[in-house]
Amino acid sequence: MAQPLFSLDGQSLITPQSVSNKFPSPHNHNETDRLRIAEAEFAVVINIAVQRFAAGKNLPDAVRWLIGQLHDIRQKFGAAVWQKIIPIIQAHPSATILQQCPFTRWSFEKPRGYSGDAGLIDFIYGHPAVAEEVARSTPLGLNIFEYTINAPGPVAVRERRDTLTRYVDETAVRTGSDTEILAIAAGHLREAEASKALAEGRLKRWVALDQDPESIGSISSQFHGTSVQPINGSVRGLLARKHQIGTFDLIYAAGLYDYLTDKVAIRLTQICMEMLKPGGVFLFANFSDEMADDGYMESYMNWELLQRSEADMWRITNAGATQNAVDKTVWFGANRNIIYSTIRKRS
Ligand SMILES: C[S@@+](CC[C@H](N)C(=O)[O-])C[C@H]1O[C@@H](n2cnc3c(N)ncnc32)[C@H](O)[C@@H]1O
Repeated sequence: MAQPLFSLDGQSLITPQSVSNKFPSPHNHNETDRLRIAEAEFAVVINIAVQRFAAGKNLPDAVRWLIGQLHDIRQKFGAAVWQKIIPIIQAHPSATILQQCPFTRWSFEKPRGYSGDAGLIDFIYGHPAVAEEVARSTPLGLNIFEYTINAPGPVAVRERRDTLTRYVDETAVRTGSDTEILAIAAGHLREAEASKALAEGRLKRWVALDQDPESIGSISSQFHGTSVQPINGSVRGLLARKHQIGTFDLIYAAGLYDYLTDKVAIRLTQICMEMLKPGGVFLFANFSDEMADDGYMESYMNWELLQRSEADMWRITNAGATQNAVDKTVWFGANRNIIYSTIRKRS
């Protein structure tokens, strides 16, 4: 695995323990027996999947089936057993097959040293930035990729990008020429590529904050000469009020809360509410606990996320948005794999 190029700020480091705490084990007795049964179930499933890969027919469907089976094993046996199954899956020879998929391989190898970097999300977006990496894949890897990239999680992530573009453009219509936007954990700010308000010069500033200097470098060169202002900053810096960046009409965070514990998520929500102008909107997104790809992501991709339920989202929303909030809403994207919270500040 590649060495980390730098360390995350500690606020977005989730551990297997923090995932397990949210994902209880159904029965705590007989764990050794249940682990043996889970291993046996995985062995049956992977044998069938490998045979289907070897037969070479309808490979995307074989991957879809495998992803569904891993989800079921994860659900059935619960966190404690699942955490022990993950290294078994990762060490299984099937990993060398599935990691021929460029998206799966990137996630597992973590070339930037941490999970869920903006380069990984570019595979989901089908962005030209990763076209060369995709082109280097084997034919089998490309067949697997055809499904992994169209699995429910990635479909929901593409919808999330389009939703962010829509929020930015609608904010520009609502607020006129003084529109100020803040993207926290901006990644490569791909949602800006389709923004009419940005293209037509109708935004006063679109501040894009991220802790990864490579992402900030990408935004700086792509959006040079526009109202986009990249800032190398972190959640920790925001919580410490280190970044003096003013106030905004729209603040959003996508692909971030999935890595934050409740305590940090609530504190960050409070800080974002303070940074909103009157009438401004804060939006945050999280993978929902109804997502279907979790078993595959946590094993073959080594990508752990904190999934959240509607009740979890309300808890963060209510604790984070106190006296100045109006119109709090929690809502699902179309396939319910991502859940959103939007909070409007009193005018
Ligand atoms: C999954 S990407 C999402 C990128 C983008 N928002 C999108 O939706 O495509 C997650 C981003 O969060 C950033 N990130 C993670 N933890 C962070 C932290 N504590 N402070 C600032 N940025 C963080 C990473 O550098 C990465 O660019």
